Amino acid sequence: MYLQKRNRILRKSAAIRSLVAETVLTPNDFIAPLFIQEGHNEKTPIPSMPGYFRNSLDITVNEVKELYNLGIKSVLLFVKALDETKDNEGKEAWNPNGLMQRSIKAIKESVPEMFVMTDVALDPYSIYGHDGIVKDGEIVNDETVDALIKMSVSHAVAGADMVAPSDMMDGRIGAIREALEESGFTKTGIMSYSAKYASCFYGPFRDALDSAPGFGDKKTYQMNYANRIEAINETLQDVEEGADIVMVKPAMAYLDIIREVKNAVTVPVSAYHVSGEYAMIKAAAERGWLDENKAIIESLTSIKRAGADLIATYFAKQAVLLLNQ
Ligand code: PBG
Repeated sequence: MYLQKRNRILRKSAAIRSLVAETVLTPNDFIAPLFIQEGHNEKTPIPSMPGYFRNSLDITVNEVKELYNLGIKSVLLFVKALDETKDNEGKEAWNPNGLMQRSIKAIKESVPEMFVMTDVALDPYSIYGHDGIVKDGEIVNDETVDALIKMSVSHAVAGADMVAPSDMMDGRIGAIREALEESGFTKTGIMSYSAKYASCFYGPFRDALDSAPGFGDKKTYQMNYANRIEAINETLQDVEEGADIVMVKPAMAYLDIIREVKNAVTVPVSAYHVSGEYAMIKAAAERGWLDENKAIIESLTSIKRAGADLIATYFAKQAVLLLNQ
């Protein structure tokens, strides 16, 4: 054959393949989510997330040091609230001495360079396991936003670099920005979960924090996975309201949304590679059906290729160890 163009030339060796690679993962791409619990020297395995743990604060602080030394610059904190602190309003969420507030302080004290982000939503604190306040069987928007404001400001007071509202209430980004401004937190940012879908892939996370909804589901606030244009509208609105970083969640089943959001906005885009996506790879690898390390790097590379500037993933540490090999 005489061919004008032979595409395999650029795939001939490892050297040329890496020279022309369009997408390269680095430790700067990752946000490491951390589950924190009360106690001392407590490391609790999460059955549906093999290899992942819910740790007491002392262990968490050591983990954060290790992550920072590996090159990971950001953590996203989640706490497991004690049952006796839960109510309908989620008041424990803005307790100045709550586990979240103590965790932010302890982490910023021991690793000040680590960029600390915090989950903002009422579900870990709600007796109903919902992200908002429940009235007559419904999740009420505006009262919930008032609670989220208090929660966000209390995280800022404790020293959080960025709050990450994951609740999907309307108007919360603008309201939180305004509250941070009014309280003088002009350097505290907002990473908005802008396009967060009502997804079955959050199952293992809800096991980790014991935060599954006690009744119904989250479909009246999280998005319908059938929708695409809605993701753009939600995201543009959050940018307008002051979000510094926007997010698409989950990631692997939503690569199309990540790309569209990336094309639509000029702020950094993050993607959340969620608990169920972690569990799927772990489960298949445990059975010997997938090469775990290859599946991790391929998945994360696809999320970045789709347009994510940042990836929140339970594989952050494992991926960096693999990249460093
Ligand atoms: C809470 C929250 C959830 C996740 C992040 N923040 C669960 C939910 O919305 O039910 C899911 C993360 C994961 O599955 O890894 N609002």
